[in-house]
Parts: sequence; structure tokens; C-alpha cells
Amino acid sequence: MMQAIKAELLEGVLTVTMSRPDKKNALTNEMYGALADAVARANADDEIRALLFQADGDMFTAGNDIGEFAAQSAGNGPQERHVERFLRELATATVPIVAAVQGKAVGVGTTMLLHCDYVLLSEDAQLITPFVNLALVPEAASSLLLPLRIGHVRAFDMFALGDPVSADAAVAWGLANRKTSAAELRAEARKVAEKIAARPAGSLTAMKRLMRDAAQLVAQIDSERTVFADRLASAEAKEAFAAFAEKRKPDFTKLARQ
Ligand code: COA
Repeated sequence: MMQAIKAELLEGVLTVTMSRPDKKNALTNEMYGALADAVARANADDEIRALLFQADGDMFTAGNDIGEFAAQSAGNGPQERHVERFLRELATATVPIVAAVQGKAVGVGTTMLLHCDYVLLSEDAQLITPFVNLALVPEAASSLLLPLRIGHVRAFDMFALGDPVSADAAVAWGLANRKTSAAELRAEARKVAEKIAARPAGSLTAMKRLMRDAAQLVAQIDSERTVFADRLASAEAKEAFAAFAEKRKPDFTKLARQ
């Protein structure tokens, strides 16, 4: 299999590319492991002055691999869930992070952007957080960060109804810096990353530490994980994953609130 996460260091910028386009870059445990390694490397290596996330294919990512969610729900998940390491690395990151997003960014594809420092969207970008549609709850400290960023009612809409947010709305709400044409997305993101890489790195790191309460973010991720694991094992989630596998709409109406 082609490597689904590619990392390339060029002139101080570590570019990390999600590349599983036939599955819309749905993230597997192995991919989370490679993403976690890349962020850890960027945080630790002084040569790396900026990290840039991008994706191959027509969308940023369809989020967590739902087949793997289903396996975890049935108690057949991996020993070590690398997503936890990835989220922790993101929450505690001191390296500046740029993201270039085209097409849909689903689930963690959107919540990871809340840990990025400069977000560029292509015109066709859509941010979607359908956790409740999958009978799950938000993760990556997004239950704290999203309402802080865009207010409770918009965050509720995104989380509870899973309504897609357009590039224009995302920029207006402060979820992204600006939009560009799809053709220019990568070059524009690279330019931003190079600009950041030319700034004094010590100052940037110190500033980023002051701007983010990493301990609070990690604590939020820990609380979310417990609730998420509970929901993942629920009858509601099993119905959601079965519906995805069978390419049908889920029916939650026969399941009582619990
Ligand atoms: N997990 C596993 N496989 C996924 C996936 C995911 N999250 N998202 C897409 N895929 C797979 C599809 O099953 C399909 O596989 P197949 O060709 O073997 O049938 C392939 O990727 C292409 O997806 P498809 O649904 O045909 O593309 P689309 O452009 O019509 O729709 C999405 C794209 C993202 C809207 C749709 O795939 C989707 O809703 N995915 C689930 C998103 C989600 O809920 N993620 C979890 C968030 S917490």
C-alpha cells in the first residue's frame, strides 16, 4: 500500500500529507500513529520551524475510519489507540501549524483545525462535525474550543445537526483565516508556512504557549475520551455504524435515551 501519511521536510517546513484518497483520507489507527509521530517530530526538532497539514484527493479527510469505529464498538479495537497520542501532541504543540483544506473536513478533520494556527480553505471547503449523527460526542477538546471560538448556538448546530459550514461562513466565524481557489491552495499555504518559518522561532513558541492553555486542553481531551468510549459502545452507535456499512440511513427512533 502507498504510504497514507507522507512527511517531507523542506527549508524548515514539515509538510504532512494525508493520502488515502480512494477512501477520502479516512483515518485509520496506523495513520493516526504516523500523524502523531510527525507532530512529535516537529515539536522536538529545532530544524522544523513550521508544520503544514494538507491532503491529497478531493477532500481533506472523511474523519475517523468508520469501519475501525465499528470494530472498537464491538470490542475488537487495537491495543493502542494512536488517535490519543495524535490529539495530545496537537494540544501540546509548540510548533506553529498551518493547514490547507480542500473539500470536506469531517469530524477530526475539522476538530484538528482548532489546534492549527493558520487555516487556509479552498472555495469548496466544508467543515462538518457529525459526531451526534454517529451517536458519538465531540473530541480533540472541541467540546471546549468550538463553542469558545464560534459561540454555543453555532457550535450546537455543527455538533448536533452536523450541518456543513461553508468556506465563507468558516472565515466569517473565525474558524479559518481566508479562502483561496483550489488551484492556489497548496502554494498559498506553503507561502504562509515559509513566512512563519522566517520569524524568530523562539518567540513564536513562547507566544503560542501563552495563547493556549495546553493543560486545560489535555484535561478536556481526557474527559471527552471517557464519554466517547461509553457512546462508542452504545446501541445507538452500533446502529449508526451498521447503517454506514449498509449504505442506508440510521433509525434511532426505536432506541430509548440512556
Ligand atoms: N470511514 C471509512 N470509509 C470511508 C469513510 C470513513 N469515515 N468515509 C468515506 N469512506 C469510504 C466509503 O465507504 C467509500 O468506500 P467504497 O468505495 O469502498 O464504498 C469511499 O470512501 C468513498 O466514499 P463515498 O461515500 O463514496 O464518497 P462521497 O464523496 O460520496 O461522500 C463523504 C464522502 C465523506 C460525505 C461520505 O463518505 C461520508 O459521509 N463518510 C463518513 C464521514 C463520517 O461520518 N466520518 C466520521 C466523523 S466522526
